[in-house]
Amino acid sequence: SSVDRGEYRHFMQKEIFEQPVAISRTLHERLPLDGAPLALGREVLDLLQAARAIRILACGTSYHAGLTAAYWFEAMAGLPCRVEVASEFRYRTTQPLPGELVIAISQSGETADTLAAVHDARERGFAGILAICNVDESSLVRSADASLLTHAGPEIGVASTKAFTTQLVALALLVLALAERQGPRPELRQALRSLPAQVEQILAADQAIEALSALFADKQHALFLGRGIHYPIALEGALKLKEISYIHAEGYPAGELKHGPLALVNEEMPVIAVAPNDALLEKLRSNLEEVRARGGQLIVFGEEGAVDGDGIRVHSMPPCHAFISPMLYIVPLQLLSYHVAVLKGTDVDRPRNLAKSVTVE
Ligand code: G6P
Repeated sequence: SSVDRGEYRHFMQKEIFEQPVAISRTLHERLPLDGAPLALGREVLDLLQAARAIRILACGTSYHAGLTAAYWFEAMAGLPCRVEVASEFRYRTTQPLPGELVIAISQSGETADTLAAVHDARERGFAGILAICNVDESSLVRSADASLLTHAGPEIGVASTKAFTTQLVALALLVLALAERQGPRPELRQALRSLPAQVEQILAADQAIEALSALFADKQHALFLGRGIHYPIALEGALKLKEISYIHAEGYPAGELKHGPLALVNEEMPVIAVAPNDALLEKLRSNLEEVRARGGQLIVFGEEGAVDGDGIRVHSMPPCHAFISPMLYIVPLQLLSYHVAVLKGTDVDRPRNLAKSVTVE
């Protein structure tokens, strides 16, 4: 059945490797080949057309998908976008903008804080509720005005992987629909279409990532750095590592290093950098130089030659279109956490103290 581990040692590993298929299913039919409009459903498109601003509400990994998408909504769709942890949103006073649409993101559709936040948003005068969810007929889908389902299939591992990448794909489709109001964007469509094959290519480097995991065997702390849209990817990388390997990990925007975390950098704390070839690479390089100068052990995910220097380990990533790079750069971080957890002998699929779906406050 689909909830069998098959040849894999853990569900998490299986789910990481299922991502190309899960992404294909999430794109399937919604992204027509012939340049026809995106098929996201009339209700979804109506909510999007009416939106003048966006508020994203979610928890955990789903919150990180929202943080990532906010960069797209503002830069590519021209809409103001704010992202909030559902458990905070529900207990504060907020001022919705005119026409502000709520996008609630949840793998399970049963997270108590997210459901409560959606309920509150209705009473506070938001323009509508759009759900991004992996479970049809979940409480979230039933309470939303419209939904865009991710087709990740059942996710068993507590640490979310394929649900995250498919949430990003669903959000990317929404952004694309908005961006195409100004005219067709064949290059963005093509980038999305190439995603499953590109993820496949990254998964093929699993052994090299497994080898990197040895660096973490005796570490207590790790720092994940990114800039721009890859800052939330760094946050998600840190979350994966802490959830399943129990290594204390933090994600930081690399430009903030000098305002605190640099004090912690020494040979005992590996620093992982998400370094795609974008407009911020040059800035990131100088941030990483600060780490190296203080004896920090640097592990960089980037294109060949993106960053070099003595003692820096670079895991080389294939070149990609900027639109899909967040979905690609999270994959090696998932694999890294997985291998570190296996090395440490933790209960990978059921980490201590955590639940797959938190249905109580
Ligand atoms: C729990 C899970 C996380 C998940 C979060 C939100 O903490 O362990 O993996 O990201 O809940 O869950 P949701 O189902 O709302 O996406």
